[in-house]
Amino acid sequence: MTRQLTADIAVASQCYLAEGPVWDQGAGVLRWVDINPGHVHAFDPATGAHTRFAPAGADGPAVPRDDAVPVGAIGLTTGGGLVLALVDGFALGPAQPGPERDGTGGGYPLSRVGGFRVDASVIRFNDGKPSPWGDFWAGTMPWKEGGPPCALYRLAPGGQVTELFGGVGLSNGLDWSDDRAAFYYADSRSGGVDVFAADPETGELGARRRFVTVEAGIPDGLALDVDGCLWLAVFGTGQVRRYTPDGELDTVLRLPVDQPTSMAFGGDDFSTLYITTAREALTPAEVAAQPHAGDIFACTPGTAGRPPNLFAG
Ligand code: BGC
Ligand code: CA
Repeated sequence: MTRQLTADIAVASQCYLAEGPVWDQGAGVLRWVDINPGHVHAFDPATGAHTRFAPAGADGPAVPRDDAVPVGAIGLTTGGGLVLALVDGFALGPAQPGPERDGTGGGYPLSRVGGFRVDASVIRFNDGKPSPWGDFWAGTMPWKEGGPPCALYRLAPGGQVTELFGGVGLSNGLDWSDDRAAFYYADSRSGGVDVFAADPETGELGARRRFVTVEAGIPDGLALDVDGCLWLAVFGTGQVRRYTPDGELDTVLRLPVDQPTSMAFGGDDFSTLYITTAREALTPAEVAAQPHAGDIFACTPGTAGRPPNLFAG
């Protein structure tokens, strides 16, 4: 029988599009992005402290603004900083801003990776993660339905960017198995999650096949746990699902909001499942009916996650 779970509100963050959560073990905080306003958030469960900053644009309310530079995803680096997929390319920076100089994010020394840009008038970066090989993989999505085909890219520690594959509708969740021989990937427009064979030595991708198809909603962020099971946020359904390695639906976690986007295990023992959610595209009536849309939820599902991979740049 499928197990049923619920989750509690962990952070009343009221984000527009909270995404890309990652547990920073050194700092003891959960970090995530609010993509369109271009914010990086941090939450310390030990103290309850919740902070945010805008690495590439002016800070402001949690709604998209013209002066915001979206942040699609972040990863942690071996040096204790961040690798970022900004709206159109990659950048590096510290995990926290320095002392605020002028209230416009000027205290954050963002260092852009040169030589590579996507066309931000039609597409933007979306989900990404450091890989087990120390590089950073992130993909793109069109701003509007019917936009150009998108791709998944790899940023090497030295700054070189490679397109891993194109023909993507909307690049979303990604993760690798512990033995590095399988790469799970959600192209949201494909209606499911695929699994690629991967070379455990190099990460090079091989044969691709369908892992699971979702019959309703949109496959979004995903993460594997210590049992090799896959957690998937199904945007638009209020559900986060767990699938066994053979693709059996094992657990359904129901949220009081429709748009879960992604998840990460955190806490010292990686036993807390943190779930990001969005209020993107909800009408005022829908926001009134689900006032916690955009908050971060948490539960302890009885299994643990793995420490995040780190970018070696
Ligand atoms: C994107 C959102 C999109 C959602 C569902 C997210 O990863 O950032 O803009 O609405 O996936 O497709
Ligand atoms: Ca996503």
